[in-house]
Amino acid sequence: MLKQHELDKVARTVLQENDRGGYTVPTDALYPYQWNWDSAFAALGFAEFDLSRAWKEIETLFTGQWNNGMLPHIIFHQIDDRYFPGPDEWRGIGPIASSGISQPPVVASIIRQIWEKNGACGDNQVRTLYPKLVQWHRWFMNWRCDNGVIFVTHPWEAGRDNAPDWDEAMAAINPKNIAPYQRRDTSHVDPAMRPTKYDYDRYIWLLSQGRKYGWDENALKKIRAFKVADPTLSFILLRANRDLMHIGLALGQNVDEIKTWISSQEEGVHRLWNNDISSYDSFDLRTGKFAGSISNASFMCWYAGIYDQRMRSHFDRIMSKVKYGMPSHDPDSVRFDRKRYWRGPTWAIMNMMIGIGLEDAGEFERAELVRSQTNLAISQKGFAEYFDPIDGTPAGGSTFTWTAAVWLVWAKNFIGEQNG
Ligand code: SER
Repeated sequence: MLKQHELDKVARTVLQENDRGGYTVPTDALYPYQWNWDSAFAALGFAEFDLSRAWKEIETLFTGQWNNGMLPHIIFHQIDDRYFPGPDEWRGIGPIASSGISQPPVVASIIRQIWEKNGACGDNQVRTLYPKLVQWHRWFMNWRCDNGVIFVTHPWEAGRDNAPDWDEAMAAINPKNIAPYQRRDTSHVDPAMRPTKYDYDRYIWLLSQGRKYGWDENALKKIRAFKVADPTLSFILLRANRDLMHIGLALGQNVDEIKTWISSQEEGVHRLWNNDISSYDSFDLRTGKFAGSISNASFMCWYAGIYDQRMRSHFDRIMSKVKYGMPSHDPDSVRFDRKRYWRGPTWAIMNMMIGIGLEDAGEFERAELVRSQTNLAISQKGFAEYFDPIDGTPAGGSTFTWTAAVWLVWAKNFIGEQNG
């Protein structure tokens, strides 16, 4: 096992080696482009040792922003055949080749974090980025909000691709008439750690619907086959709107519009509460049915500033069954699959957001538990994309950007009451 200063060095090297000049790939080969939330976490990691490179990461990300405000989930700066589906499948309508959907908007919160830590050094960058962030968040409120709850139109938009949260909504899709395609992910990673062909057929079918309608949100709104209210997006956007308001006030901007978003979301997130399982959950807006899934996103209520103590007992129950961080799905569920991507493995970024939320809520012991387990995973098993939550087996891609970033900014630092 490496010592802390050695791990710090490896983490910085991971970030530098995944740097493609102005943007960072999540990992080589498996994900050879700029991914939206991966990139935001990369910036957070770079800010620990190269502040100008951190700002550059976010500026490059926004070069892909669409006219309607949408910030795509993948920006294809340079064609790379090692990834499918690429730019020819997506045919995004922005200034740079991109996908046609967005991803959890962690950027505003990360900008605030970097800015507050580094003071005036970021003033110019923040001033330039602020209106772009407002435009992006407005896009979410216009096109992905149903009475205060934020929904996804593709599992990739939540970032939790094959989570059990989408099982019923995915089963309702008949992926007919999709052209034959060749996956690339399973040539880089053990297929048992990736989504199945059944999942991919539906991912590609949903993508083809968007492409067919030229990614026109107005047209797509009328024909959506997939519309699931999601705790990941709902909680992350709520925190991001609070942080955006904070940034706006610091810049002397009028934040009335952002205030109305926050009030609407504060009301809306309660719709995610599923009484039957006493947990925040996803629900299908087309049928009104809950997914019955306790996921790592369910525990992001605290990150959103919703200090709900009702999630504590699930937290304690689940954390007593694992050693390497909050699993992406409840280990007591029959759908739990400890190595398959978002159906069981633990993810450093989700652990960090859960930990930050707990710390904000004054829950230092629980925050420290999730941090120390994440620390154990990384220090014993390396900078993997995700880990088996029970025995820590590293899974998915290796030398992973966001895992390295989480190490540098959070996982290596003890959380105690004195920090609160
Ligand atoms: N996570 C997806 C993939 O695995 C895309 O965002 O390709």
